[in-house]
Amino acid sequence: MADRPTSNASTVRSLVLIAVVVVALVAAFAFTAGWLSPGRLTPAKIVNALAPPGGATLGFRRNHAKGICFTGNFESNGAAAALSKAPMFAAGSYPVTGRFNLATPDPKAQDAMVRVRGLSLRIVAPDGSEWRTAMIDAPFFPVATPQAFYGLLQASANKSDPDAMKSFAAAHPELGHFGAWAGSAPWTASYAQERYNSLNSFIFTNATGQDQAVRWSFVPAAQPEAVTPDQLKARGADFLATDITQRVQSAPQRWTLVIMVANPGDPTADPTQAWPDDRRKVEAGTLVVNAIEPEANGPCRDLNFDPTVLPPGMHVSDDPFPAARSAAYAVSFDRRTAEDKDYPRHPAGGATP
Ligand code: HEM
Repeated sequence: MADRPTSNASTVRSLVLIAVVVVALVAAFAFTAGWLSPGRLTPAKIVNALAPPGGATLGFRRNHAKGICFTGNFESNGAAAALSKAPMFAAGSYPVTGRFNLATPDPKAQDAMVRVRGLSLRIVAPDGSEWRTAMIDAPFFPVATPQAFYGLLQASANKSDPDAMKSFAAAHPELGHFGAWAGSAPWTASYAQERYNSLNSFIFTNATGQDQAVRWSFVPAAQPEAVTPDQLKARGADFLATDITQRVQSAPQRWTLVIMVANPGDPTADPTQAWPDDRRKVEAGTLVVNAIEPEANGPCRDLNFDPTVLPPGMHVSDDPFPAARSAAYAVSFDRRTAEDKDYPRHPAGGATP
């Protein structure tokens, strides 16, 4: 009898403790889901904002939805080993799975209508470590932060305010710089003639522990031939996939990996600012594209070209984009792989998107 109050008190203490744990878990969940801060930018919000007015195409990447997969090799010449101890910078040949793509959420977009083209790569080292990178052919990004990218998507979708884009552009003058590039840079008729740029900055660490801020580009061996947008519109909707398939069938296609090393003070956190062209450059080797693979049912289907998947000797810098991209790509990947039944695994003839 004498121990009853103590046992009651300990029961109450246990219940309070359980309640505290449950409330803490709910609060942590609500915080992670963004319910406590509705204004906070979340990866899901940014991916939702990428959807065109008719909604996302189920089963497909939520951006760069149209593309074509390939396999090949990265032939490293060993020159970049002085910059990074990444195993794929030791001289040798490393297998690559990659994807040429267009910056559109529409897998059926006409090739001639998409200004920005991309190249995604996964380079695998013998120890299993990987370097994944997804680049575009623009020389700089249109906006300086992931928040501004979200703002741009919202402004361009805002049909109720005809001045939304004008106000956004006035507040983000770097967008005008990108617009000038998009309006004046020559178009080509081939993925093989494009130069693809990381735009984001990363840190390379070499075997002696030295760090360097870098950006990289894959520079085509094929000479760019300018064509007008009207000439492109006269071609079929999928001329880029047809062209690259024919080229690779007749000969492997090549790009030189050029690594640009920042000078002290060069902006690393802002991909709207290209570094001056006189920066030190290291030619690290050659990407060789040997075979075009099926896009609809091929090796890129379940691959997420997350730019934060990096081997030892590389890591992210103070550039906020790679982390934001990683989170958004994961949402896109989760959604599209969960929508497997909507993905045309066995398209009934015609061009595969
Ligand atoms: C906050 C900014 C960005 C967001 C929210 C974003 C969003 C996305 C999403 C959702 C995908 C589809 C991923 C998948 O399902 O696997 C994607 C793909 C891609 N993005 Fe971004 N992106 C951003 C910035 C960039 C930048 C700066 C570049 C280039 C420098 C870039 C290049 C690409 C490329 C090449 C792909 C195609 C990847 C593939 O082939 O799977 N993106 N992006």
